[in-house]
This record gives sequence, structure tokens and C-alpha cells, in this order.
Amino acid sequence: MVNICIMTYGCQMNESDSLTLEQQLAANGFGLVDNVKTADAVILNTCSVRRKAEERIFGQLGHLKSEKSNREGKFAIGVIGCMAEGAREELIKRAPYIDFCLSPDETDSVLNELLTIFSIDANNIEANLQTSLPGDPFPFKRYIPIMRGCNNFCTYCIVPFVRGREKSVPIKGIKEKLTRFIDKGVMEVTLLGQNVNSYDSDKVNFPVLLSKLCEQAPQIGFRFMTSHPKDISNELIDVMASYDNVLPHLHLPMQSGSSAVLKTMNRKYTAEHYLGRIQRLRDKIPGIAITTDIICGFPGETDAQFEETLNMCKTIRFDSAFMFYYSVREGTAAADFPGLLPKNERKTRLQSLIKIQQKISKEVNCRHLDEELIVIAEQVSRRDSKVIAGRTGHNKTILFPGETSCIGQRLKIKCTKTDTWTLFGEKITD
Ligand code: 5AD
Ligand code: SF4
Repeated sequence: MVNICIMTYGCQMNESDSLTLEQQLAANGFGLVDNVKTADAVILNTCSVRRKAEERIFGQLGHLKSEKSNREGKFAIGVIGCMAEGAREELIKRAPYIDFCLSPDETDSVLNELLTIFSIDANNIEANLQTSLPGDPFPFKRYIPIMRGCNNFCTYCIVPFVRGREKSVPIKGIKEKLTRFIDKGVMEVTLLGQNVNSYDSDKVNFPVLLSKLCEQAPQIGFRFMTSHPKDISNELIDVMASYDNVLPHLHLPMQSGSSAVLKTMNRKYTAEHYLGRIQRLRDKIPGIAITTDIICGFPGETDAQFEETLNMCKTIRFDSAFMFYYSVREGTAAADFPGLLPKNERKTRLQSLIKIQQKISKEVNCRHLDEELIVIAEQVSRRDSKVIAGRTGHNKTILFPGETSCIGQRLKIKCTKTDTWTLFGEKITD
């Protein structure tokens, strides 16, 4: 059997695409492995959102190059995902040993590339019935892509250039997928899109889609990402509040706490608008966890404007945040903006934000102390085989003593201790 290893970088959309690809390759007789040594081909599903992600991928390509030259048999290297579109020329120049490079629109051609490279007769294929796929650590959790692409053109962001314009998946296909997941006993579904609030298909908008899916599968917990603060409507907040199976967590990238910076970022909302959305969410959905993304050191950001971001974080008190320093992305509008700050300054700002947010996350997590939480047991803890790591509806990791047999179950856990990144608890019932 020809074995394939898919390595996934970046966002949940890539994770979802990698799993779909693994399923397609298994159905066509390929084996799926989780390490390079036992693979005949490695496919990198790449991310372009920051330069650092691209550098990591070039580093990995360097390792794969030496693997390829040490192998006696055939060893293929493929690149898919955002870099295959946005950094194709650089890839071909710096890694000419790549066998194929397919942009996000061309992922369907991976199978044909592999059949050709390994001289496999397409008429003579037997499905590989491998039960667990490396890209599927939690078979009780599933993603459903509902839209792809982005029309917003935030001035720092490469996504609209590599993923193209917004395109919604027809509701019929989404509902059919959900039916299959219900039959398989899936417990949690995350609806995915670069901008889920822009969902629009057959006159169905995102709040209507979400309510229909919640009604179709009352036993499944729903999450969705990513949401744009300009599009979080009252209608959506009402739907979130009225269905028990919308899980109490929202990821809402703020990017900056300064209205002036948000304007140059082309985010189309002000700091006041963002604050208003948070207040309404918290009023209507008490206890909702809110997480965010923040970019430090955007071109032209003054000390005072950065201070506004820090103050917003102190006011809002996010449960947690993904924090980045600004990374220049060629081809985006901001790449030509004056006032690029030295990398050191961008990093210093990031460090001071991280310090403040860590303290806030630690304090905020204390609110779960003594709470009885509904948790899905996900996996054995990496540090202790007698400890299970689960996920709460608030999307927090909770560690508790337990057996492997409880993995994939919904449990009631009493939270007994909290820390910055993790909660700790004990099982109440099976
Ligand atoms: N520099 C730094 N961070 C960025 N992001 C997107 N583009 C850039 C960039 N050029 C961050 C944003 C986004 C997250 C996925 O990545 O915060 O929400
Ligand atoms: Fe990028 Fe902005 Fe679109 Fe998000 S909304 S993908 S940050 S352009």
C-alpha cells in the first residue's frame, strides 16, 4: 500500500480540508500515516497568514528534502493550501524538489497527482478500510465548512488573495452532512468559514441556518467560527440565546482597541461598536466565554493607540486571546502603508499585551471554580495516563482523573481548581 502523511498548518479550515482529503485518499486505496518515516508521500497543507507560519513550512520542506535524498524508493512531496496560491513562486524557487503544488481551489487534483506519481491504475483500486485516520483525533467532533473565501479585505490580511471571494455552501448539502453525523453519533459540530456571518444561500442567512441546524440536531452542540464584529447581528445573538445546543463560546476577533487603527485596518467597526456587541452578548447569554484575536504594532500604531488596545482588554476581560505582532504580507494594502514599526517594537508590544491577558485569563477562569460543567472527554492527558483531557462548552480544557473508556462521552465534571490555560476537576456522574 502507498502510504501518505498529511501535515496540517494554520486554521480549522485546513484541518477540515486535510481530513476530507484523508477520507478521499483512503477510499482510493492509499494508507494514511502520521509520520514521515513510514510515508511514501508527504503533503503539507499550508498557511500564509503570517510570515512565521511560512518560515516553519520552509523549515519542514528542508527536512523533507533530506528525507527524499536519503530514500532509495520513491518519495513524493506535495504542497496544498494557502501558500500553494500565495507563495507559489517562492516555493518553486526555494524548494524545486516539490512534486506538486496545488492551490486551495485545486485540492481535488491531489488524488490524480498521487495516482500518476505512483503509477496506480485508477480502474483497479480497492478502498483502504483503515478505521482511524491521523487527521481525525476526535471522531465525535466534526467540522462543517459552510462558506469559503472572504470579501472584506482587511488591509493586513492575505486571506482574500489566497482563498478568493466568499462562496456559501448550499443548505441542502450542509443538512445532509449533519444527517450523516447524527447517524454516526457525533456530539459536537463546528460550522466553519472565513466569515460565517456572511453566509447567504437561497435567501438563508447565518442566523436562520444556525437555527435550522440546531433544530435538526438537538443532541449536538454547535460552535461556529470565524465571526466578524461588524456582522454579529441582534438576530444572531437571539438565536444563540434561544437554543440550548449553541455552546456558550464566541470567538470574535477584535484586532485592535483603537477606532483609528481599526479604520486603517479596514475593519468597518469602531471600538465602541465592538464593546456594544460584547455587552449585548453578555446580557443575552450570561456566562458566555469570549475569545479574540489581536494584532500588535500595526503600521502607524502610536503608543497611545496601543494603550487603547490594552485598555479594551482590561475592560472586556476576554477568556483568552490569540495575540500576534503585525507581519507584513506582500500584496496586501498595509504592506505599502507608511509607519512600519521596527520588529523589536512590535514584539515588545506583543509581550506586554500577553502579560496583561495572561493575568486576565487566570482571573477569569476562577469563575468556573465549583461549577458543574458538561464536558466532552477527548483524550488521555499527555503528561499522565490516568488523567483525561476534556473540553467544556466554553471551549476550555479541563483535566480530571478518568479511564480511557470515557473518551467520547459527555460527562458532568465539577471544577475544583483553575489556572491560566486549564481547568481541573472531578467526575460527578458517568
Ligand atoms: N499579521 C499579524 N497577524 C495577522 N492576522 C492576520 N493577518 C495578519 C498579519 N498580517 C491574524 C488576525 C487574524 C488571525 C487569524 O491572524 O488576528 O484574526
Ligand atoms: Fe482576513 Fe479580514 Fe477576511 Fe478575516 S475578515 S479573513 S481578517 S480579510
